[in-house]
Amino acid sequence: MASQILVIVSLLAISCSLAAAGIEPGPLQDFCVADPASSACRDPKLVKPDNFFSGGFNVPGNTSNPSGSSVTSASVAQIPGLNTLGLTLIRFDFAHGGLVTLHIHPRASEILTVLEGSLLVGFVSSSPENRLFSKVLEQGDVFVFPIGLAHFLSNVGNGTAAAIASLNSQNPGFIAIPSNIFGTSPPIGDDVLAKAYNVDKSIVEKLKAQFHS
Ligand SMILES: *[C@@H]1O[C@H](CO)[C@@H](O)[C@H](O)[C@H]1NC(C)=O
Ligand SMILES: *[C@@H]1O[C@H](CO)[C@@H](O)[C@H](O)[C@H]1NC(C)=O
Repeated sequence: MASQILVIVSLLAISCSLAAAGIEPGPLQDFCVADPASSACRDPKLVKPDNFFSGGFNVPGNTSNPSGSSVTSASVAQIPGLNTLGLTLIRFDFAHGGLVTLHIHPRASEILTVLEGSLLVGFVSSSPENRLFSKVLEQGDVFVFPIGLAHFLSNVGNGTAAAIASLNSQNPGFIAIPSNIFGTSPPIGDDVLAKAYNVDKSIVEKLKAQFHS
């Protein structure tokens, strides 16, 4: 009895530590192609090669927006065969001067390679506290953003830039830090933000206005 409890407790500890590391439970079958009509896997006998396929990743995204960047995803929404496999693929495109703002993926690490252009990238660690790890990447260079750490990508080249990244989660999540602080709904009080940043409330109002038009 005591040993059974011990086994259960250690299994719980293992699953908690896996969850804490952002590792998703492994598949229980070869594949579990998402079935839009139900939460169950599609009947494996009816699964087709196209369930594991998506085209068009050679096509640049539309960067005519204020950030001058675009993100194209190949996730389970586009490829039902990705279901339960813990993977997402992303294409980034940048206009001249384009930026993918400071953001966090709460559930995935990311590995990125530059297809064209020059990208200034960086992430910030918690230990050592607030250390910036940053580099300028050129075509063919590879960089890693560890799970849960704030990071950004900025086109510092003369022309456009493009990159491809893979994330080890089916649902990496995306938290854009500026709007996560100044663009919340309902807003975080001016008193809180003015004290947090040690600035006048008028500055807080100005920053909030960027996100509440
Ligand atoms: C790109 O997006 C802009 C702004 O939404 C839009 O005006 C433009 O037509 C789009 N271009 C293409 C090629 O889709
Ligand atoms: C950008 O343009 C400048 C001036 O034309 C040139 O010196 C520099 O090498 C270019 N940089 C890149 C990354 O192409």
